[in-house]
Amino acid sequence: MKKVNVVILAAGMGSRMRSDLPKVLHQVAGKPMIDWVLDAVEPLQPDKLITVTGVGAEAVQEHIGNDSHFVVQEKQLGTGHAVQQAYPELKDSEGVTLIMAGDTPMFRTETLNELIQEHERGNNAVTVLTADAKDPTGYGRIVRGDDGLVLKIVEQKDASVTERRIHEINTGVYIFNNQLLFSALAEVKNDNVQQEFYLPDTLDILRTQGYQIGAHQIQDFTESLGVNDRVALSVANQVMRQRINQRHMLAGVEFIDPQTAYIDDQVEIGQDTVIEGNVSLQGHTVIGQANRITTGTVIKDSQIGDNNVITSSHIEESTIANEVTIGPNAHLRPKSHLADQVHIGNFVEVKGAEIGRGTKVGHLTYVGNAILGEDINIGAGTIFVNYDGVNKFQTTVGDRAFIGSNTKIIAPVKIAEEAITAAGSTITEDIEKHAMGIARTRQTNKEDFWQKMPHKKG
Ligand code: UD1
Ligand code: CA
Repeated sequence: MKKVNVVILAAGMGSRMRSDLPKVLHQVAGKPMIDWVLDAVEPLQPDKLITVTGVGAEAVQEHIGNDSHFVVQEKQLGTGHAVQQAYPELKDSEGVTLIMAGDTPMFRTETLNELIQEHERGNNAVTVLTADAKDPTGYGRIVRGDDGLVLKIVEQKDASVTERRIHEINTGVYIFNNQLLFSALAEVKNDNVQQEFYLPDTLDILRTQGYQIGAHQIQDFTESLGVNDRVALSVANQVMRQRINQRHMLAGVEFIDPQTAYIDDQVEIGQDTVIEGNVSLQGHTVIGQANRITTGTVIKDSQIGDNNVITSSHIEESTIANEVTIGPNAHLRPKSHLADQVHIGNFVEVKGAEIGRGTKVGHLTYVGNAILGEDINIGAGTIFVNYDGVNKFQTTVGDRAFIGSNTKIIAPVKIAEEAITAAGSTITEDIEKHAMGIARTRQTNKEDFWQKMPHKKG
């Protein structure tokens, strides 16, 4: 197979998105659209990869970084004009050039390969990828002659009533003989409704010049979905998530309600893990085997081992070993590291803390900036008071320590192994091994107080 150049069009306004964010940076299944496109073309090992940027060029270029060359289209005069901007980069190439848009995130590499093969087989000047759309509204239509051969592509806005009835659409992916691409582009005019220089016009031009043009139709329309507004974005998300969830199901992950499980593309999940509905696994998250993750759970950029039960909780930038139970309604904030068999109960918040094997933090507790040993019991309502408004301070608690309910630990404090705090204490000093820290005022009972109560007077 010949080497291909790739041009990705990403200069447009994306005005139909009604957003301050450049269109191609909007995310589908946790990944910007442009990344889906770049990932699909990457295995083709392009000779040259050029992205055309314009509106929001800085943000788009910064996002893509070194993965592509860039050319800037200063004024968005149409897709044909956009491709022309790549001329200085491609003028010497005798190969083929694949062109696609940054707003069509669903294409698979196999499909692009099929198009390239079809192009070579047909010995065409250009081959366009087409699809049969149930609702072709908004797409360019493929106009074929009586002999079935492609004549031209007509945009929705320029199409006649008859042409609008055509269901075969232009997916916006083409492969061109590189030299013929640029010679045809030089002929493209903007005498159309939008007064733009249309890339699709090159087909009609090349055919009229006597070159052979071809089309390759894909079976699955959903791949060709173009995201022009937020309605299409939601459809793209839905379809992509279905694809992702199916991949996991075939690899042994159980989904109770795949329609409402939101798994980002990069997430890894081990077999026999069960994911309930309304679960969101985001970013670079890795989940091991045989976990149960229940409804309402959100996990972002975290590593989870095996055999854990995570019940309706939020976890960010944290690690969890094995056989841990969490929730319901727990919140692990960044840099929480839980060893095996830890239990984090309801309404517990953990941040910047290491919690040792078998330690239990059962109820209504805040653990911040702490190193906890093994088999510790932290009573209900314990607060690690770690912040004086300016600095954060650390607490350490040794193995098997027993922290009584409603203890306030004013950091920095060291509580030794097998030390105890009395319930309700405000601990400000270190506690030695086997000692009990008690810091609360003694109770006094005032007799016959009932009669002195205001409501009993007069
Ligand atoms: C385009 C095609 C249409 C096809 C559809 C498939 C044209 C004229 N129409 O329509 O036939 O069915 O895609 O999704 O090509 N862009 C630039 N510079 C510009 C204009 C656009 O870089 O001056 C980029 C956009 O950022 C976008 C892509 O080209 O990534 C397509 O432009 P868009 O305006 O979305 O075209 P469609 O109306 O979707
Ligand atoms: Ca589009």
